[in-house]
Amino acid sequence: MKKSVIIAIDGPSGSGKSTISTAVARMLGFNYINSGSLYRAIALKAINSHIAIEDEKSISKTALNTIFEIKRVGNGWVLFMDNKDISLAIKAPEIAQASSQVSTLSGIRDIINKLIKGMIKGNTVVEGRDIGTVVFPDAALKFFLTASVEERAKRRYQELLSSRLGRPYEIIRKEIDDRDMRDTSRDIAPLIPARDAIIVNTDNMSEHDVVIKLYEKVKATLSLKFIDNVNGIELYTTASAGFCFGVKRAIDIAVKTVKQEKEIYTLGPLIHNPQEVKRLEDMGIKPVNDIDTMTHGTLIYRSHGVTTEEHQIAKEKSLKTINATCPFVTRSQRLVKSLTNSGYYVVIVGDANHPEVKSLLSYASGGQVTAVKNAHEISTIGKVKKLAVLAQTTQSMENFKNVISALVDDVYELVIYNTICDATRIRQDEAALLAMAVDVVIVVGGFNSSNTNKLANICKAINLKTYHIEHPVHIKEEMLIDAKKIGITAGASTPIWLIRDVLIRLKKMSRKLSKTYI
Ligand code: DC
Repeated sequence: MKKSVIIAIDGPSGSGKSTISTAVARMLGFNYINSGSLYRAIALKAINSHIAIEDEKSISKTALNTIFEIKRVGNGWVLFMDNKDISLAIKAPEIAQASSQVSTLSGIRDIINKLIKGMIKGNTVVEGRDIGTVVFPDAALKFFLTASVEERAKRRYQELLSSRLGRPYEIIRKEIDDRDMRDTSRDIAPLIPARDAIIVNTDNMSEHDVVIKLYEKVKATLSLKFIDNVNGIELYTTASAGFCFGVKRAIDIAVKTVKQEKEIYTLGPLIHNPQEVKRLEDMGIKPVNDIDTMTHGTLIYRSHGVTTEEHQIAKEKSLKTINATCPFVTRSQRLVKSLTNSGYYVVIVGDANHPEVKSLLSYASGGQVTAVKNAHEISTIGKVKKLAVLAQTTQSMENFKNVISALVDDVYELVIYNTICDATRIRQDEAALLAMAVDVVIVVGGFNSSNTNKLANICKAINLKTYHIEHPVHIKEEMLIDAKKIGITAGASTPIWLIRDVLIRLKKMSRKLSKTYI
């Protein structure tokens, strides 16, 4: 059975835990357990049964004979005790104080901890005081919400103002002070953040901002692929790091060709990764820069495609050609051709000097085409009636959308083809989540690789400690200082063996660094 994911949210009274925890659970589609409400419920039962709050034995006996159930009602969760909805009754101030006293009894804590564990049926957000430290020390993620006493008292005062529980600010502040004192100074399971908890001070944050912060952190963490823990330094990667379908296909075609042909060439590098291209070269596949220098042999069309002129020359020279162009690029080539034939002026969002874009530009008839890097460059297009726009397959969606909105202002007809390939989008989304979840991001891939550069830019915008490296030797110790979580991602043209080499070096360096931390 799949292990349930537990998110622990701890913190003092009035830190906004309940509102935030329920909102986060709702957004994630998780179950929700409020452990505080269980302490309150037991206190309520003790009071109703006329049992003294210090009488641990009798309270334990009663607690063990009580049925607790958390039910999803409407948009929230409701605690039922012996089949009765007690959500309102446990909010009374005397119950809050009594529950704080009850929570100092170790026997009661054991009963509640067992109860909570038994209630876990799938992924759950659990809130309380000791969830990350005692109840679920191996929770997937732990948060500790804090706020100053003044801020928490102010929030509680506002919240209760219109209800029958409304009390003067000074009294509420004193109650919070008292409970803080008891919760933090008790011997068992005192209120302290777990060592690995993310501490969120909510003093100057809106509720909405806190919810989004927690939600994004959880999403980012859950999308990570854990690789190893080297003396406390954790290494993670993204599920999609490395070769995409088109690159893998090109490499497979090239390797197959080695077995069948003698002199094999590629026009420019087959893919944008110098180390992999060198490996292919060692197998006998030589990159040439200019088709004019070729007189014979087999020419593999690289994954980015070739221009129509180059294709024509290869035909005239009777070269044997093997097409390893990525099928997604082939689709874009066809689009440029058919759109320009139908009278559209085509805008390609991409880098005019990149081989893929050079190839696409060559497929346009009548010069009805231009490449723009970003929205600032569209002024070069002028007035056009029928416009079509598509993107280099490795473009970032954000840049593509920016160009589209800039174009829309000035045109009568605009046709959009989203030619950004899914592999690019997935890698970019995962890299962004990785950058949010770790301390240092290592992006592995060719410095000449457009998609790797984009990944590095996306990560850097989120996490300043992002380093684009091409080879393991580029990793320097100073990049990893103080990192507890290191994330590795790689471009679509980065071979798996290179990612492995990077990992081996990172593990070695982490071992060394972790020793210096002790
Ligand atoms: O979160 P709350 O105010 O509903 O909690 C009621 C009391 O229960 C609070 O004073 C501290 C205690 N508590 C605890 O000791 N451990 C928990 N995991 C949750 C609550």
